[in-house]
Amino acid sequence: MKLQDMSLFRQAALIDGAWIERADMDVTDPATGDAMGTMPDCTAAETKAAIAAAATAMEEWRALTHLQRADLLMAWHDLMVTHADDLARILTTEQGKPLAEAKGEILYGASFVRWFAEEARRINGHIIPSPIAGKKIFAMKEPVGVCAIITPWNFPNAMITRKVAPGLAAGCTMVIKPSDFTPYSALALGVLAERAGIPKGVLNILTGRPEVIGETLTASPVVRKLSFTGSTRVGALLAGQCAPTLKKMSLELGGNAPFIVFDDADLDAAVEGAMASKFRNGGQTCVCANRILVQSGIHDAFVAALAVKVDALTVGPGTQEGVTIGPMINAAAIAKIAAHVDDALAKGAARATAERDLPAGQYADPVVLSGATLDMQFASEETFGPVAPVIKFETEDEALLIANGTPFGLAAYFYTSDMTRAFRVGEALEAGLVGLNTGVVSHAEAPFGGVKSSGLGREGGQEGIEEYLETKAFHFGGL
Ligand code: SIN
Repeated sequence: MKLQDMSLFRQAALIDGAWIERADMDVTDPATGDAMGTMPDCTAAETKAAIAAAATAMEEWRALTHLQRADLLMAWHDLMVTHADDLARILTTEQGKPLAEAKGEILYGASFVRWFAEEARRINGHIIPSPIAGKKIFAMKEPVGVCAIITPWNFPNAMITRKVAPGLAAGCTMVIKPSDFTPYSALALGVLAERAGIPKGVLNILTGRPEVIGETLTASPVVRKLSFTGSTRVGALLAGQCAPTLKKMSLELGGNAPFIVFDDADLDAAVEGAMASKFRNGGQTCVCANRILVQSGIHDAFVAALAVKVDALTVGPGTQEGVTIGPMINAAAIAKIAAHVDDALAKGAARATAERDLPAGQYADPVVLSGATLDMQFASEETFGPVAPVIKFETEDEALLIANGTPFGLAAYFYTSDMTRAFRVGEALEAGLVGLNTGVVSHAEAPFGGVKSSGLGREGGQEGIEEYLETKAFHFGGL
């Protein structure tokens, strides 16, 4: 991996401003299967040291004015933008997504830092009229405390900034545990945070296997908040581990997004939206369309047009010019995708796309499956890959029943040109994020998060910073 600034590539953990260099574990490039570097496998003692460092650093950090914290965040943001090409190359090499998409993620990630640097100025409390004369009541906002941040491999940059930036803006300090598949994007953010002047101990990064680090973080009474993005299974496990110390929690968990196309939709726009929603990051996103529901009148035209677009995708290493679908993260991902496709074909679905010769390695064939039905595996489980199963439906009620018929409720999309239907369906969909005539629902300015088994809390938007604040009612008597 060649970078303009090789010092952004750190094979170490960051605890209290010290870089701990130990080659305990390999990190693999999913495009080649070769080791691209090593990392320490942090111990429980190191995790406790990081928590202690964050607790000490918080005294100084929370005492800064919101403008001082905002300025440091903006300096961090500017460095991310300046080094976007190098950060994108690190991200592609460890995660696999095409370089252009990786650069998009870096700028998306930086946009959270900017947004929350701006939001730092709006951490307002309020004054409440007292029922008793001579008394005033103030509702004051205070930082939650030391936060544990556990992030996934599919967005190794943006899932960190979306959690860390509001926390830092609020005056909290952080212990970050990035995925063991993708530690280097996190560590590069640590290098840039140091350069931006964020004091030591404010942002600590622990690499290694998740079990020991996760258990130590969740068991610690010093850690007052956990923010996690990942599967519903692991989210529920972490929530259980946090219960004895009653931490505040944000959980951004699994989805099974419906993508509904009504007869009155603009066909080209719906196909474009399906491509954006389904094939971003090779289908490895929590918000990606997992069940494409198409009304009978537009069904055949939609499937044909989607298949043309999918056939035009180029599969290969993310660093190769022109590639639009990179490798999947690991062999388990490939096996799950293959199982979902085989299951659908065995139960009567048909391929609408041509079968292609894939490069050797962890690659999946992007595919559109027509004739999909609700007894197929994808209907109850996220595929997390480039598979677009299309279910035909007749009525709006039927579409809504299918769309809401899962325990998940992260994202839902629908396409229609009927504005009365737009409101009706938008309100009826059980999801934290609803896209009407758009396949993109992720922006720093908007709240992001799910309902039902898709999680708790919101990231981004005005809501994002609230997750890192407590409200103190300050009763001021004797006036
Ligand atoms: C995710 O897949 O967890 C996040 C996707 C996004 O931020 O759009």
